[in-house]
Amino acid sequence: MLKRYLSSTSAKSLASALDEKVYQVTTYARPDDLCITRGQNAKLYDDINGREYIDFTAGIAVTALGHSNPEVADIMHKQALKLVHSSNLYYNKECLDLSSKLVEKTKKFGGQFDASKVFLCNSGTEANEAALKFAKKHGITINPKKQGIIAFQNSFHGRTMGALSVTSNPKYRTPFGDLIPHVTFLNLNDELTKFNDYISSNRDKLAGLIVEPVQGEGGIFPVPADKLIGLKKICSENEVAVIYDEIQCGLGRTGKLWAHAALPKEAHPDIFTSAKALGNGFPIAATIVNDKINNALQVGDHGTTYGGNPLGSAVSKYVVDVIADEKFLSQVEAKGEIFKTRLRELQKRFPEQIKDVRGRGLIIGAEFAEPPTEVIKRARELGLLVITAGKSTARFVPALTIEDSVIEEGLEIFAKAVEAVYK
Ligand SMILES: Cc1ncc(COP(=O)(O)O)c(C=O)c1O
Repeated sequence: MLKRYLSSTSAKSLASALDEKVYQVTTYARPDDLCITRGQNAKLYDDINGREYIDFTAGIAVTALGHSNPEVADIMHKQALKLVHSSNLYYNKECLDLSSKLVEKTKKFGGQFDASKVFLCNSGTEANEAALKFAKKHGITINPKKQGIIAFQNSFHGRTMGALSVTSNPKYRTPFGDLIPHVTFLNLNDELTKFNDYISSNRDKLAGLIVEPVQGEGGIFPVPADKLIGLKKICSENEVAVIYDEIQCGLGRTGKLWAHAALPKEAHPDIFTSAKALGNGFPIAATIVNDKINNALQVGDHGTTYGGNPLGSAVSKYVVDVIADEKFLSQVEAKGEIFKTRLRELQKRFPEQIKDVRGRGLIIGAEFAEPPTEVIKRARELGLLVITAGKSTARFVPALTIEDSVIEEGLEIFAKAVEAVYK
């Protein structure tokens, strides 16, 4: 059936696909000469222009188990024939299985030691909306004025109004006027004493604090462990719920199941969020909470039509099973080392242009002295897709299953692109 669909539509659709870009809302600037038609693990293909690309983006850290993963496709197919959707009015088996798996694997792999309950939804921003509402509800239950949220400069938490309110970038915020009130942005580079002063003197007004353990969109900045340990201590002392946004850095990307699994349990969050890799491209997200947070919630406090649907949950069960595996996770670290070693070699050749190489596992940034726009463009012309993060960082977030040889090949292309721009 698929074959027939392609043969009957391919001539028209391939030729006219790019003409149809006039129907896209003006929210993205995309290259004019690229239209993806299919993918395979860490490669993408543009059959319209007859091009093959090495993909260091994985759909922005999403397709952790590779494009067109055959097991994922098989699960989708089988589950679609069984049950796609049944609403949250009734339990469904896949949702129950996924939720218990998330809690159990989180504990087993060193994540949130008191993980207890899961809310499933459909995107990262929604997972953070839930997290913010849960933290606020917890605060308001203690005292009606305890509603404020602390977020950090350089953060990115999503584009819906709540998540946008805790996202610092003015470019994303200012066009939209009033956002949710009582949000304060602090600077992660500040000393813990400064955080302590602010939080303890505002304890009656603060419900939660949200932070990415590795800032992703902001430019790949891992937050030092001592800072997270200190922040959690201060927040616990002041009954402020700590939310870790692991939407980009979680689920194996750092070489741990969760980025916070590298921290002692005193620094574990009250709430954490996951999305992106969770469905390997199928839209699904999760907000995981401890009992302290859940005890503040009542039936009707939050909801979603699609969240936790059997199709997404079936896919995620598989994704979590594959990633929650010591061998798989150690391979992520090893692959990350190839990236860092090669990028540092390149940095030695271009010390004026490449200022820093940083990151964990397969979330790596190479910070340039200026926005690496031309490098990214040249890399694309040479057959490599890379994205930026922050103002001047090239970001490497490939499939966690990327073959070592493809990493080497892609990094050779990247080096050629840097040479071409700065030779
Ligand atoms: C850390 C973080 N939080 C939240 C989001 C928003 O996720 P989504 O685009 O699925 O809404 C992103 C997306 O890039 C992210 O990186």
